[in-house]
Amino acid sequence: MKVTVVGAGNVGATCADVLAYREIANEIVLLDIKEGFAEGKALDIWQTSPINQYDSRVIGSTNDYSKTKDSDVVVITSGLPRKPGMSRDDLIATNAGIVKTVTENIVLHSPNAIIIVVSNPLDVMTYCAYLNAKIDPNKVFGMAGVLDTARYRAFLATELNVSPKDIQAVLMGGHGDTMVPLPRYTTVAGIPVTELIEEEKLNEIIERTKFGGGEIVKLLGTSAWYAPGAAAAQMVEAIVRDQRRIFPVCAWLQGEYGFSNIYLGVPVILGKNGIEKIIELDLNQEEKVLLAESVEAVKSVMDVLDAMNANA
Ligand code: NAI
Ligand code: 2OP
Repeated sequence: MKVTVVGAGNVGATCADVLAYREIANEIVLLDIKEGFAEGKALDIWQTSPINQYDSRVIGSTNDYSKTKDSDVVVITSGLPRKPGMSRDDLIATNAGIVKTVTENIVLHSPNAIIIVVSNPLDVMTYCAYLNAKIDPNKVFGMAGVLDTARYRAFLATELNVSPKDIQAVLMGGHGDTMVPLPRYTTVAGIPVTELIEEEKLNEIIERTKFGGGEIVKLLGTSAWYAPGAAAAQMVEAIVRDQRRIFPVCAWLQGEYGFSNIYLGVPVILGKNGIEKIIELDLNQEEKVLLAESVEAVKSVMDVLDAMNANA
């Protein structure tokens, strides 16, 4: 299997490293626009192979898409973080320009690739990739829910002092503070979480999860990369090994949950064809209201991109 990771920055390089040492793909291409950067990161990762005992090949490329030819999966992490003085619309315009060019090049060289978008603002950059890839939307989707649920599960594991492996959870909605964690669908080794934790504490953890990205930015001065890189690699693994894992994924909705023509986080089955199925949960009234608020938040950013495209 051949996997390309576009953007050799913090998230991209971490993702490539996980793909390599866990032998999720036997050929990994790391591509970046910055001269020599991807080659340097790829070389450093490849030099861990004798230590970490793997034989996946890792190569780097400075914007040469011929090296990505016939990739099975492509992870797009290229994009700028928001800088001081930059408005949200400036960020959307800059990153949409990057995601558009990258997607066009990817599809040109790997028309059958499944594309996983990581760049922010996530839901709308996934929409941007879809508009430019012009392929089946089940093959273009975004990574956010795997990371957001990982944060939620890690906070719960700390609070309950149990293994994070035993915590199962799902959350929905956009990648932002309107995301919708679902305590009703959170279990600890099959036990409903509400039987193990006070409501007030659970609500605190849910709030912390919603702002989990910002918490890391405050601590580090830049956004997270270990968990995001590992989350994207876990999605790649589900695809290349046809695992049919159930993950919250930013997927194109066509009537599911009553919404259409929007990319939104929902539980899906991930397998060799990308999104094999969107799972529709029977949400209660309160959950429906929260999801509808999240839809409005995502739509308002999608509208910014649509307006930019209409004026282009
Ligand atoms: P970074 O700045 O470390 O890396 C981004 C890389 O993209 C840089 O090396 C840059 O040279 C490269 N790049 C820029 N334009 C390019 C182009 N046209 N072609 C190829 N490469 C290009 O940033 P980091 O921390 O790796 O984050 C990457 C993106 O992922 C950001 O947009 C960030 O907000 C987002 N992110 C999303 C998460 C999610 O849950 N979906 C979680 C964490 C980060
Ligand atoms: C995160 O959640 C900023 O999207 C990035 O860490």
